[in-house]
Amino acid sequence: MLSQARLAVLCSGFGSNLQAIIDAVRSGRLSVQIASVISDNPDAYAITRARQNNISCVLLNPKEYSTRSAMDQAILSELGKYQADWVILAGFMRLLGPQVVAAYRNRILNIHPALLPSFPGTHAIKRAWEAKVPVTGVTVHFVDEGIDTGPIILQEEVKILDGESLENLEKRIHEVEHRLYPKAIQQVIDKNKIPNNK
Ligand code: GAR
Repeated sequence: MLSQARLAVLCSGFGSNLQAIIDAVRSGRLSVQIASVISDNPDAYAITRARQNNISCVLLNPKEYSTRSAMDQAILSELGKYQADWVILAGFMRLLGPQVVAAYRNRILNIHPALLPSFPGTHAIKRAWEAKVPVTGVTVHFVDEGIDTGPIILQEEVKILDGESLENLEKRIHEVEHRLYPKAIQQVIDKNKIPNNK
């Protein structure tokens, strides 16, 4: 008998990937418990999504912490409080410090809207579109101390169409993200079954 994995989902913005995870849990495609949502942005729509779905939500405003390390301690404290097994970055636009990465080594996942190692960092869709590469895509990877450098879990290519607008490419990339992230999360969890008496 295995207990259900507990996820903490960290978001900074719109939260469409959070919604995709919620929908995947609801439809039975993803067998986890979303223990909490943590946001570093008081204006994040992800907070509203968490509330609408009766998920505990914590706002950790960086302005209230004098150092990055203090903010990381607050994140660690919340992860501990909610007994998170997995930390899921879903549009979390903040680099996690070494203390958090070390505490959850190989248990922090991130989704990135490009084919890593190409276009790490912010505005990846726009930069790939401006660079006129024929193919971009989506990557789900483990988080290490670098910026989008950790081991890759799943990737899917997205071809950039002739004359495609940035808006259309963004829409198609997000559609791939929403399908790929729940699948990658389930895959990683299945490989790391957590015994009940952990
Ligand atoms: C997503 O496209 C995600 O891949 C990206 O932010 C967006 C968040 O959207 N993350 C990064 O660029 C991380 N480097 P969402 O808030 O609607 O899920």
